[in-house]
Order: sequence, then C-alpha cells, then structure tokens
Amino acid sequence: MYKIVYKKSLNPTVTLMDVEAPLVARKAEAGQFIILRVDADGERIPLTVAGYDRARGTVRIIFQIVGGTTALLNEKNVGDSICDFVGPLGNATKTDGLKKVCVVGGGVGCAIALPVAQKLHSLGCEVHSIIGFRSKDLLILEDEFKTASAKLTIMTDDGSYGEKGLVTEPLKTALERGENYDEVIAIGPLVMMKFVVATCKPFGVKTVVSMNPIMIDGTGMCGGCRLTVNGKTKFACVDGPEFDGYEVDFDEAMLRGGMYRDFERHAYDKACNLFRKEVQ
Ligand SMILES: Cc1cc2nc3c(=O)[nH]c(=O)nc-3n(C[C@H](O)[C@H](O)[C@H](O)COP(=O)(O)OP(=O)(O)OC[C@H]3O[C@@H](n4cnc5c(N)ncnc54)[C@H](O)[C@@H]3O)c2cc1C
Ligand code: FES
Repeated sequence: MYKIVYKKSLNPTVTLMDVEAPLVARKAEAGQFIILRVDADGERIPLTVAGYDRARGTVRIIFQIVGGTTALLNEKNVGDSICDFVGPLGNATKTDGLKKVCVVGGGVGCAIALPVAQKLHSLGCEVHSIIGFRSKDLLILEDEFKTASAKLTIMTDDGSYGEKGLVTEPLKTALERGENYDEVIAIGPLVMMKFVVATCKPFGVKTVVSMNPIMIDGTGMCGGCRLTVNGKTKFACVDGPEFDGYEVDFDEAMLRGGMYRDFERHAYDKACNLFRKEVQ
C-alpha cells in the first residue's frame, strides 16, 4: 500500500498529492508516468510523475477529476493509502543539448509540463513557458512555472487572467520575433498539441508532444495505447509518451480518445452516486 502524505486542491477540479513510493521516487525522471489502482477492484489509470523527493521517498501526482477513478482518488486523504502505484513507466524527456526551449502547457497538461520545465531549467537551459487555461479559476502552478522559466506567458480563453487567447498566439509571435528555440515541447489537450505543431511547422522548429491515449497495462502488451507515428504503429507507454509532433496522426488519436465516452460517463455517474449515498 502507498500512503498519501500530502494533499492540496489546486483548483475545484485539480488535486495534488504526494504519495510514499520510495522505489518509484528513486528512479523517476521528468516525462515518465505511473499507473495506479485506488483499491483492489479499481481500474488502472496512468498519471504523470509531477515531481519527486528522492530523500523522502515521495512521488507527486497532479490529477484532474474527470471520471470515476479520479473522483474516487480525490476522496482519499492524508494518511489513507492507494492500493497499487507502479512505475516509473515510459521514457524520460530527452534534454541533451537543449539550450533554449519553449514549453507550452494547456490545462492539467501544465502538471505534466512543469517537471519538464524544471528539469530543463536545472540543466541551465533558457525556458520560455506559455501556459493556457479556460479561465482564471482553473489556473494552476503559476509560481512554480515562474521559478522555472526565464519568460512566462499566461493565457486564458476568456481573458479573466493573463492575456486573452490561445497558447498558439504568443507562440507564433515569439517564432515570428525570431526566438531561436532548439525545441518546442507541447503538453495538453490533443487539439491544442495539434495546433501547436501546425504553428511551429512553417518555422521548422522541432516540436515534441506528450501523448496520453487510453492505457491499460502500460507495458506494451495490450495495444490499448497504440498511435500512428510516421505511418507506423507505436505504443505510447513504451515508445513514448513523448513523440515528434510532426509525425503524430492527431486525427486518429482524437477519434480513438472518444471511443469510450459513454462507458466513462456511466462510471463517473456510478462513483458520484456512491459518494452521495455515503454522505446521506
Ligand atoms: C501517460 C499518461 C499520463 C497522464 N498523466 C496525467 C496527469 O498527470 N494528470 C491527469 O489529470 N491526467 C493524466 N492522464 C490522463 C488520466 O490518465 C485520465 O484522466 C484518467 O485515466 C481518467 O480516469 P477516470 O476513471 O477518472 O475517468 P474516465 O471517466 O475513465 O475517463 C475520462 C477521460 O480520461 C481518459 N482516460 C480514462 N481512462 C484512461 C486510461 N486508462 N488511460 C488514459 N486515459 C484515460 C480519457 O481520455 C477519458 O476521456 C494521463 C494519461 C496518460 C496516458
Ligand atoms: S498500455 Fe498496453 S500497450 Fe501501452
């Protein structure tokens, strides 16, 4: 069992937890993820390693409450335990030789983008971060991004904080200004990553995206997380989760991502009904 040692709500739908998992903490790197099961008959869900403390043996996860399992996880408190917490899985972000990078995060994707920005910053890379949210009340990790970035731009769709607009707008302006990024790293909703790639392409800037398809085993055996990259089938869990954005078939990934929507809605309603009964 893996004990929760810290819990904080970052906004009404996003929660941060530090979990005691010394073996995972010992090896985890930015870009990798874990798979957890809240309880013995729960489903397995992947969450990115949002941070780690090797000395304390803890791993940080930041998750958005979107469905049944994340709602169940959010019911857990400090002192409670999680049944399974497996990792680190996937490949770490490639940082070799990067001197100047633009990190683009969207929504809860910022939780995944932050450790990447922090790692690059710690290696002496000049990090420009652009983070976007639907509105001010959904903003997360502003201070942490400020610390890790030489330049931080915050965007909101409705203009309630930072600048009004999409993350692709300041990115395009920066590229037009001649910012010579070695790489742009985009992490967020599929549609956001697709348009970040489209923005970068005319400038020929390498664009890395972090894919988060449905995952089941996380070990390359079930095929659940398959994607088409450069015309070939790849598994996000073992070949990724980061890929060259120019090569990813985003339209196919978006189609596959919507396949289980009805089942997920049902699981969420079931979990919510369970909590309602418990509080009555
Ligand atoms: C490598 C990877 C890293 C991720 N990191 C984070 C993170 O750091 N923070 C975060 O909030 N979310 C992250 N996700 C997404 C997270 O796994 C899903 O939000 C979670 O599984 C939802 O489960 P649920 O039962 O609450 O929701 P459900 O009702 O089951 O599903 C809601 C949505 O979550 C996604 N989802 C559901 N099950 C899975 C699954 N097994 N694998 C992948 N996606 C699924 C689907 O897109 C679905 O539309 C990551 C996904 C992957 C693949
Ligand atoms: S999750 Fe099963 S192959 Fe990737």
